Amino acid sequence: MAQNIYDSDDFFKEYIQLPRQTIGLDGAPEWPALRSLLPTDLTGMKFLDLGCGFGWVSRWARDNGAVQVLGVDLSENMLAKARGFPADEAITYLRADLDSLELLPNTYNVAFSSLTLHYLTDLPRLIAQVYQALEAGGTFVFSVEHPLFTAPRRPEFIKDSEGYTVYPLDGYLKEGERITNWMADGVMKQHRTLATYVNTLIEAGFTLCAMDEWGPSDELIAEHPGWERSRIRPPFLLMKASKLFQQ
Ligand SMILES: C[S@@+](CC[C@H](N)C(=O)[O-])C[C@H]1O[C@@H](n2cnc3c(N)ncnc32)[C@H](O)[C@@H]1O
Repeated sequence: MAQNIYDSDDFFKEYIQLPRQTIGLDGAPEWPALRSLLPTDLTGMKFLDLGCGFGWVSRWARDNGAVQVLGVDLSENMLAKARGFPADEAITYLRADLDSLELLPNTYNVAFSSLTLHYLTDLPRLIAQVYQALEAGGTFVFSVEHPLFTAPRRPEFIKDSEGYTVYPLDGYLKEGERITNWMADGVMKQHRTLATYVNTLIEAGFTLCAMDEWGPSDELIAEHPGWERSRIRPPFLLMKASKLFQQ
């Protein structure tokens, strides 16, 4: 059973204060890069939003022409926020665990997931589900916390003996559970290497189209000087894959 930390009151009251939730997509600095991986025109498309949270991308998909959107999330807190926006009968929000979700075959044109898959214990199962749920020609775009970010036992910048700020990489090749104290104590995530993300897509049948080890641009650093540290190690990994053939 997945952890569902977003339904913990202590975690949630901190989490909802993040700009990416108070402002929405404009508060997520990696969104322009992620959006650039998605089809520019979603007219007539069926869109799947895995770990939809407040539903920001589900609503964006509708605004950009999607005819049907399924947003899936484990957290009742997150789904309550999504359902608090004006109702749209073309968007369905479903409470489900992505570690056991079953999807209808050959149904969606685009599958999307933002900053959720690093919580899953069985990623190959979910990716295989996504592959069979996409129509031929379908696109899968997702972001996760970058493997260099998730690897260490203590994922915090430190000063080295010469006073340089460094990120203490350890355990990179040791995949599996990591417990961190981000927003609340005991948050459980799964560390996977970059090769595992790539190979999991390939083994499911996907063709890899693009990858981005996202970090802040010069312009963003000028606006937010504190983000310079994100150049020491990338915070996010963005990937785009295609299902080229019918099963
Ligand atoms: C960092 S939030 C991202 C939310 C949204 N995608 C966004 O970018 O604003 C991660 C989301 O994944 C959901 N989540 C985590 N584990 C999950 C699981 N096993 N099944 C479904 N949703 C899960 C959480 O409830 C949360 O809404």
